[in-house]
Amino acid sequence: MTNQTTTAPGATAPTDERPYSPGLEGVVAAESSIGLVDGKNGRLLYRGYPIGQLVERGSYAAVAELLWTGEWNPGAQLHPSPISDGVVTALRQLPRTASPMDALRTAVSVWGAEQNLPWIPDVEQARALTSFSPSALAAFGRLRQGLDPVAPDLSLDLAGGFLQQLTGADPDPAAARALDAYFIVGAEHGLNASTFTARVITGTRSDLASAICGAIGALKGPLHGGAPAEVANQLHEIGSPERAEQWVRDAIGRGERIMGFGHRVYRAYDPRAAALRHVAEGMAHMAEWLSLAVQVEDVVLRVLEELKPGRIIKTNVEYYAAAVLQGVGLPPEVFPATFALARHAGWTAHCIEQAAANKLIRPDMRYIGPKDRDLPA
Ligand code: ACO
Repeated sequence: MTNQTTTAPGATAPTDERPYSPGLEGVVAAESSIGLVDGKNGRLLYRGYPIGQLVERGSYAAVAELLWTGEWNPGAQLHPSPISDGVVTALRQLPRTASPMDALRTAVSVWGAEQNLPWIPDVEQARALTSFSPSALAAFGRLRQGLDPVAPDLSLDLAGGFLQQLTGADPDPAAARALDAYFIVGAEHGLNASTFTARVITGTRSDLASAICGAIGALKGPLHGGAPAEVANQLHEIGSPERAEQWVRDAIGRGERIMGFGHRVYRAYDPRAAALRHVAEGMAHMAEWLSLAVQVEDVVLRVLEELKPGRIIKTNVEYYAAAVLQGVGLPPEVFPATFALARHAGWTAHCIEQAAANKLIRPDMRYIGPKDRDLPA
């Protein structure tokens, strides 16, 4: 929080002394019982349950129901839903070069127009949207390769159904389970930029689809959802553990960030990274890649500690997300949109919570421009 202010050219000295926090850092803007991000101690809890236990013993369907309702039902199920002709037509209109995030946002928008969702957002709407989006993203994944969409196998869960609709083949159960674990890890993370966006839109009494379109837009920004593809490129460039130290020193020397490290909230090892590393260790075909990743991680942590003394920069979720997403066979350009699929459960849970005790979100602003001028004659 600061009382200091910048002064725009031509502005008079500011008289507004209210505290201002750039990026709203440290500002408490909501009360929530959905998820706790305990950055100091490296803990992430969904409705009180630690992420490690949820990944080990839960499914994305059970976790989504937990986030929506607060109840733990390990037998909960979510299956992919078919997409309408209208959605397919809209996706066909997009250039094949469109980003999968743009396609997902478009599909959710069309879905929302078709559903004409009533206020107030509820669990049924959340379930419907969360089950729709994997099918829509998979359809675009095929259309951009010149292939037709395939209908979902309604007996599969969302992760398996996404892979099946993307490839047109029965998913490998181990890959589906790994992707389900990734979905759990990505489901919820407090009042991050996209979740805040979803709550702001819901706060106006707009509909759930509009809120999720906005959230997808916020997540599209590389500072929020873009790192795992870059982690993959980074490891590809480093190539071998012996080259890691020089590569990292050179990158930091050029003022660059090492992808997959550092976090605004965590000042300890990101618990999601630990959970996903465990999942990646179970993927035999990723063993060589993972061995390089683990050795590079050690080097990066050591060099960052030396070159950024006093900063606590640890491994974040994206580092091992890259291994899991590659391991299940997804191309890097689909990574951010796959993260968006996972985050549907958390976004929609926050919309329901926001609506239940709704207050329009409308922060104030300190005006720093010129005052009381006359237009030039
Ligand atoms: N590599 C090198 N230096 C870093 C890194 C990094 N990954 N992260 C932080 N630093 C350094 C900065 O250079 C800065 O150093 P300086 O004070 O000497 O200039 C210092 O640490 C603080 O940096 P800030 O940007 O103020 O820290 P913040 O906590 O806001 O940054 C962020 C968080 C944006 C995630 C940052 O760590 C980063 O850019 N990481 C790389 C990208 C990445 O992995 N993003 C995924 C995050 S996880 C997620 O969004 C789901």
